[in-house]
Amino acid sequence: MNVFITRKIPQTAIDLLVNEGFDVSVYGKDNAAGKNILMKQTKDADGVITLLNDRIDAEIIANMTRCRVIANYAVGYNNIDIEAADKKKIIVTNTPDVLTESTADLAVTLLLACSRRILEGHSMVVNGKFNGWKPELLLGVELKNKYAGIIGAGRIGTAAAKRLKAFGCKIIYFSRKRNPSLENETGAKKVNLDTLLKKSDFVSIHVPLNSETKFLLDKEKLSLLKPSAIIINTARGEILDETALIQMLKEKKLFAAGFDVYTNEPEINKKLLKLKNVVLLPHLGSATVEARGEMALLAAKNVINVLKGRKALTPVLSKNR
Ligand code: NAP
Ligand code: GLV
Ligand code: GLV
Repeated sequence: MNVFITRKIPQTAIDLLVNEGFDVSVYGKDNAAGKNILMKQTKDADGVITLLNDRIDAEIIANMTRCRVIANYAVGYNNIDIEAADKKKIIVTNTPDVLTESTADLAVTLLLACSRRILEGHSMVVNGKFNGWKPELLLGVELKNKYAGIIGAGRIGTAAAKRLKAFGCKIIYFSRKRNPSLENETGAKKVNLDTLLKKSDFVSIHVPLNSETKFLLDKEKLSLLKPSAIIINTARGEILDETALIQMLKEKKLFAAGFDVYTNEPEINKKLLKLKNVVLLPHLGSATVEARGEMALLAAKNVINVLKGRKALTPVLSKNR
């Protein structure tokens, strides 16, 4: 049986597949494979490992002749047409848990970088503009005693909340369901979205992208934020109205924003590049040696299990879709 991987992933996972007797082919270029290559390479594959920037649409899925498993090398799976896969009884899997701590670390990193104006300070030093300690040089804000609003109290949202609790934040959250363990561990309170946006000093987004969460934070919702607020998005770009957010940042209607994800990734809205009150990262949430290694192994094990007639370890269940 053959497995196609749409980009080079950590070698341990490729070795594992080869040792289990699979014929593995890897798209070797550094850029995303693109539709034509995806169509061609997935056509006769028994299993496919995909990246979050491979759009696996209904047409690609319809073209598959043998595929039984699509293992996404990410926890988010908004890049895959799940219904089309369901119809062909193709199991779709993702990589939950193993990247939770890395992504929560990155959300907090973005928040601290924004709250303490790290990039402005770095530029000042690099550009030879640091001419001595000053009482009011680049003042930021403390995290202690501030309201941190978590949107989406799942794995990463909970991990981010625990970190922010340790910094002294008061946690509020918006999610469909109550999260009793988050409440017990951090004293978090569940609120509605409007209350969260009005009350929070810091907002961190952790919902998946789906039809309900697309533009969850539209222009009107974003306008509820305090001018002193900081918003961090490590979830997906399309969850918020990027154009409206940029305008607010430009007009100083917000203290700052930290972006790891963008609406038209990897294209970046040029207006963002002109702003001083932003921190912009190239989708690095799970980019640690630990997380990427575990993600690769989990994706490979999902493929092996399905193709050997066993249960997938982390299937994307219809009820969660
Ligand atoms: P998760 O455990 O499924 O958490 C997401 C939570 O969002 C769920 O627990 C769900 O809780 C809530 N939710 C879903 N739909 C909602 C809605 N319509 N309204 C309100 N809440 C909703 O997923 P995760 O592992 O924490 O990952 C979250 C997302 O982070 C991923 O989907 C991915 O897009 C993103 N991510 C980004 C990076 C990066 O590199 N930047 C890395 C990893 C993940 P309820 O059931 O209570 O609603
Ligand atoms: C990264 O964005 C992921 O969904 O794993
Ligand atoms: C700062 O460096 C201080 O000593 O307060």
